[in-house]
Amino acid sequence: MDLTGKKIVVIGGAGLIGSHTVDHLVKEDVKEILIYDNFLRGSRENLQNALKDPRVKIYDVGGDIMQTDILQSALEGADGVFHLAALWLLQCHEYPRSAFDVNVRGTFNVMEACVAKGVKRLVYSSSASVYGDAVREPMDEDHPYNNKNFYGATKICGEAMAPEHSNTSRRACALTAESRCLYATPTARLPENRMRSVSACVTIVRFGRSRA
Ligand SMILES: NC(=O)c1ccc[n+]([C@@H]2O[C@H](COP(=O)([O-])OP(=O)(O)OC[C@H]3O[C@@H](n4cnc5c(N)ncnc54)[C@H](O)[C@@H]3O)[C@@H](O)[C@H]2O)c1
Repeated sequence: MDLTGKKIVVIGGAGLIGSHTVDHLVKEDVKEILIYDNFLRGSRENLQNALKDPRVKIYDVGGDIMQTDILQSALEGADGVFHLAALWLLQCHEYPRSAFDVNVRGTFNVMEACVAKGVKRLVYSSSASVYGDAVREPMDEDHPYNNKNFYGATKICGEAMAPEHSNTSRRACALTAESRCLYATPTARLPENRMRSVSACVTIVRFGRSRA
């Protein structure tokens, strides 16, 4: 996808990876970058530089992926969506029902909204957790699932739903499994050279590479 003049929505855009994704997107000739986030773990501080750019806005009607009507209204006219909102590993362990709601049902909501609003490209963030401990090396994207935790289970579910939505809507859905080097304290912003997979996400959107 040529990003020129496009509206891109970054769901979970106030979080660690989401805010770095926004920082990469402002370097592109996009028309608008809309951040959709409920600020459960994200912060405005993460976006302080990006928000100086008039093309970057936080959706002020709402920002929760469980609120499907508000979510769909945010995606009106969107060309591309990054879905980076999720409960993380330990939250999934402690609160599995909430993790199911946000990571599985919420991801379904995002995919459904993308289909409803004719979004041409969706990037869904999976996790290296889906691979668990290595059963062979090197661990590439074709490594079998060997997940042992609920967080990974929700991510496998998201991966499994994506091709269906991609096929039924004839929209491209790209999957990314960020490398383990991205793990960091929740609010920590990372140096530029640690964010290679974020720029890879942007590249996926631009060129349409899809693992699905
Ligand atoms: N950080 C990593 O190392 C890593 C590695 C692999 C995969 N991932 C995945 O990448 C994505 C982003 O991870 P992160 O590290 O930036 O996490 P993060 O917690 O920093 O960001 C997630 C964002 O989603 C928001 N959010 C949570 N629930 C929401 C909801 N119901 N509606 C709307 N927004 C909601 C939070 O407020 C937060 O801003 C997640 O899907 C995560 O599973 C992260």
